[in-house]
Amino acid sequence: MTPGLSPRQALAEVEGRLSAAGCPDADFDARELYEMAAGEDPRLSGNPLTAAQAERLEALCARREAREPLQYLRGRWPFLGFELAVGPGVLCPRPDTEVVAQAAAELIAGLEAPRVLDLCAGTGCLGIGIKFFCPSAQVTCLEKSPEAFAYLARNVREALPGQEAAEPVQGDLFDYWRTLAPGSLDLILSNPPYLTTAEMTALQPETAREPALALEAGEDGLDFYRAIAADYQQALRPGGALALEIGWTQAAAVTELLRQAGWREIQCIRDYGGNDRCITARRPREIE
Ligand SMILES: C[S@@+](CC[C@H](N)C(=O)[O-])C[C@H]1O[C@@H](n2cnc3c(N)ncnc32)[C@H](O)[C@@H]1O
Repeated sequence: MTPGLSPRQALAEVEGRLSAAGCPDADFDARELYEMAAGEDPRLSGNPLTAAQAERLEALCARREAREPLQYLRGRWPFLGFELAVGPGVLCPRPDTEVVAQAAAELIAGLEAPRVLDLCAGTGCLGIGIKFFCPSAQVTCLEKSPEAFAYLARNVREALPGQEAAEPVQGDLFDYWRTLAPGSLDLILSNPPYLTTAEMTALQPETAREPALALEAGEDGLDFYRAIAADYQQALRPGGALALEIGWTQAAAVTELLRQAGWREIQCIRDYGGNDRCITARRPREIE
């Protein structure tokens, strides 16, 4: 990037390079990168690029051209009404996951100090999201990957000012249920890995930069839903709730898994784009 370029010239150059590299939303990304490099909004500034700003913009542009997620370059990303630390080793929080946090929070509306477990927590967006909507909630966030756990531990401390949003626990969903006392939770929520083995071979370049552990869920993409359906119901009190993010084609399969495992009040909720995105269910309220 050449020092002395006007903001408009620099923006045009970055946008052109990102478009040529196949980046979706190249205009938005170009503005974000400019702001990160120069510390000012290019649409509001007339200052020519200094040498240091040009060097920073060049480095950021090269990383984005290589299809590194914008979220990783920024290092922070908004979710609901708070910000999360994010970077290589953890899944970038998606806007559609906000729908899951909202649906889950509605399931515990009116409860005094509900006990909540976020399985496969990643950045902690869902568990912290529950605390954001329901400050009295006692939230535990479970995550297996050491790299993702480092972001989780930081986010539960920093995302909501003046409080620890959740207790972070490093562990494996396939075993962790054994540690839970029967009937000890009011809500379990999860956005687990849900891609099939075939889908893992055809990832968008940005998604391929995210950890495979956050994405892959066996031949049919349902390994984690099977485990949650079978092993986690006992940890909920009777009538306790479950909220799962799903891939947009998985509603029927996940509904059937839950039904067969004895879950009740199963419902599907759509995301902002109109796709099936969240399945909610409850442990039966009484012994059937
Ligand atoms: C799809 S990501 C979701 C992260 C976060 N909940 C979100 O919505 O952005 C799934 C997460 O599950 C974690 N994970 C994968 N296998 C796990 C396991 N067996 N036990 C616990 N966490 C696991 C991954 O490391 C990843 O952080």
